[in-house]
Amino acid sequence: MTAPSMDVLVSLCKRRGFVFQSSEIYGGTGSCWDYGPLGVELRNNIKRVWWRDFVQQRADMVGLDASILMHPTVWRASGHVDHFTDPMVDCRECRRRLRADQIDAVPWVHYCEATKGNKFTIPAGEPCGRCGARRTLCPECGRGQLTPPRQFNLMFKTFMGPVEEDAAVTYLRPETAQGIFVNFDNVLQSTRRKLPFGIAQIGKAFRNEITPGNFIFRSREFEQMEIEFFVNPNEMVDGRPADEHWHDRWIADCQAWFIRCGLDPAQIRLHEHAGDELAHYAKRTVDLLYRFPMGWSELMGIANRTDFDLKQHAKFSGKSLTWFDEERKEHVVPFVIEPSAGVDRALLAFLLDAYHEEEVRGDKRVVLRLHPELAPIKIAVLPLLKKRPEIVATGHELRARLARRWVTLYDDTAAIGRLYRRQDEVGTPYCVTVDVKTVGDPDKGETGDQRVTIRERDTMEQIRVPIDELESVFTRLLGETAWPEVAAAYPRAES
Ligand code: GAP
Repeated sequence: MTAPSMDVLVSLCKRRGFVFQSSEIYGGTGSCWDYGPLGVELRNNIKRVWWRDFVQQRADMVGLDASILMHPTVWRASGHVDHFTDPMVDCRECRRRLRADQIDAVPWVHYCEATKGNKFTIPAGEPCGRCGARRTLCPECGRGQLTPPRQFNLMFKTFMGPVEEDAAVTYLRPETAQGIFVNFDNVLQSTRRKLPFGIAQIGKAFRNEITPGNFIFRSREFEQMEIEFFVNPNEMVDGRPADEHWHDRWIADCQAWFIRCGLDPAQIRLHEHAGDELAHYAKRTVDLLYRFPMGWSELMGIANRTDFDLKQHAKFSGKSLTWFDEERKEHVVPFVIEPSAGVDRALLAFLLDAYHEEEVRGDKRVVLRLHPELAPIKIAVLPLLKKRPEIVATGHELRARLARRWVTLYDDTAAIGRLYRRQDEVGTPYCVTVDVKTVGDPDKGETGDQRVTIRERDTMEQIRVPIDELESVFTRLLGETAWPEVAAAYPRAES
């Protein structure tokens, strides 16, 4: 099985309503994306499962939902005004803006003098094979001189209030983390927490990326799922400083979560930041990389931010941001372990990993083997014959009943084979088929066997289940019980 290319996935996402380009009818907005009917369900499921596993099920975590617009001083204290920059260069000819540190990582356009100025596109970082020249001009147009590098701040500026003046400048938050730091004392006072404990938040972040790209991997508006886990730096756990112990615990927990949600462990690896890669606030950072179509790239980061942020906000606000250690009778500025994941990158990884093409009876089948908890639609109710009113009525009735607990869809717009394929392609784990045997023939006084067929997505196996037992069967199937165990209790139906 080869992983899908990004083009294949982008096409599926558009065709089936997962992701659309933002403002497409106007030609699109640079690197912003809209999530369609299936995309919004998948996205909500990722966030719901993450929140349940990392916030609601843990005794040492609480949640928060801070506003996107914050006091402008927040961004001076955090270092974003001074440090949240990328070096960029401009082409004097085509006016294209590029990241200075990435110019040699893209193929470059070259008008080769050895071939009377013919145009070639040369692979990234390589010299021209004809004249031996290396890139000096703009890699995009091949003609323009590049300006010297300048630092470009990635924060989006806006104005608060009715007057567009310098004093009213504020920013769209580039990370959700700062909303947690500035609320540290509010949460501490209102919940009476003891260290170690964490505050989690899911929300939008905005970055004016110079070179966004790779579909939803790097966009200008995206969503983060972040945790700031506060630990006592004076404490030892298992013979190690508490921050180092918890950092390793969080790296393991995050990796395990992605695998439990369906990612292939062979497609995940850890990347330890070298000294010159570390952010200005970090003692140590480890990224979880996923093998995306463009290569191993960051899925999420887990950083040890030390006491940098709390100390900075204490300094700039004049408020004490400490925790009082009753045992040692001392005020402590906690260290912070920060697992920070992007919702959009997680969604992209889950889709890529789930995508499979296979041959079934001579036909190509595309199937998204999404974890059932993430699948946008859990059950599809499909009538075998839409001309029979009893079949259609039973189908609608079943959909309404099942939809009270699970996202359930009714579809009668094609023949059954095609309906199954459609559901496979969007990752629906179970289809329920209503057929002639279910309802019988009322004209002959038959009531049918009141059983329906359940088809499982990955194996395509089918079982025949009494309608009355459907809810209990799906409670098990969409809970903890595996298909083979449930299926063993029912007669097989022919596929
Ligand atoms: N608070 C720490 C922080 O924001 P980061 O490594 O800049 O760290 C964390 O971002 C995560 O947010 C990344 O691992 C990625 O999943 C996601 N992310 C960052 N920039 C993004 C972008 N432009 N588009 C989509 N996701 C992004």
